[in-house]
Amino acid sequence: MDLTAIRQLTDTDMQAVDQLIYKQLESDVALINQLGFYIINGGGKRLRPLLSILAARAIDYKGQHHVKLAAIIEFIHTASLLHDDVVDESTLRRGRETANALFGNSASVLVGDFLYTRSFQMMTELESMQVLKVLADTTNVLAEGEVLQLMNCNDPDTTEEIYMRVIYCKTAKLFEAATLLAAVLANVTPEWQQALGDYGKFLGTAFQLTDDLLDYTADTDELGKNIGDDLAEGKPTLPLIYAMEHGNEQAKKLIKTAIENADGTQAIDEIVAALHACGALDYTQQKAEQEAQKAIDSLSVLPDTDYKQALISLAHLSVNRKN
Ligand code: FPP
Ligand code: MG
Ligand code: MG
Repeated sequence: MDLTAIRQLTDTDMQAVDQLIYKQLESDVALINQLGFYIINGGGKRLRPLLSILAARAIDYKGQHHVKLAAIIEFIHTASLLHDDVVDESTLRRGRETANALFGNSASVLVGDFLYTRSFQMMTELESMQVLKVLADTTNVLAEGEVLQLMNCNDPDTTEEIYMRVIYCKTAKLFEAATLLAAVLANVTPEWQQALGDYGKFLGTAFQLTDDLLDYTADTDELGKNIGDDLAEGKPTLPLIYAMEHGNEQAKKLIKTAIENADGTQAIDEIVAALHACGALDYTQQKAEQEAQKAIDSLSVLPDTDYKQALISLAHLSVNRKN
């Protein structure tokens, strides 16, 4: 199934999600409307809410709370991006200026806070202590992951194990919540809850591995973000970690210096060539594909439906994308 078919399959639900998102964005404070609209309407893929919708449909959920869940997940994600672009000092996202570049850091952080706290207001409307607990834990882990990543910046000794922990916390955990909570709302068996939670976790990991790969291999115009940003921040992602372990002495020295002295002036072409030569980019792609396969395998207990097929297709698409 391609993305167009997946969008068609979920069109009614996703329109309801969008309507709710725009309604919940409203505020008497003009800057919230302005900046909020800019980021929410900025060409994002709406991937996380789509996962909640597909997960709910794949287990034949009959209620309407999945729409609210999807909007909540998108608000948390969007809030975290506003904060992230400030922390990462990013200037380009989705092919446009970042909100921080356009409105300034303070406005970005504070509107991020608005979206984040609004998501908790919406959560209370679901009147489920279990949903509240999962999302409280998820957002806490998200923040933890970002702090852990900060601690590892400019550290060439960062291990693959630490890296995998960081990407689980900062990315996979929210994917996991998006799919797990659909199962919680539908009150299905623990086996199905586990299956959908695992699917989200593995898919999120595959997605971030691909994100980190694209930072070296993509085209800036196609990606809509600046290539080499991770390196400029001294972020030891998997391609670099692999090369530090398996590259020749010259490559190791080059990459060690790049991680330690990241200042945005690194010769990105030279680094990419070194990553290619030692197989670091292939390794990262393979690892992403393995995680996507684990996501697909997790769904084996669920009945075969178009919605399950869409989830399977999304796993393939997540690791074979250009942006
Ligand atoms: C993008 O990663 C950012 C995240 C996955 C999470 C960011 C989370 C926070 C800043 C803390 C939590 C905030 C709230 C409101 C709960 P990236 O920088 O690797 O990717 P990018 O290339 O898309 O910027
Ligand atoms: Mg970033
Ligand atoms: Mg970041």
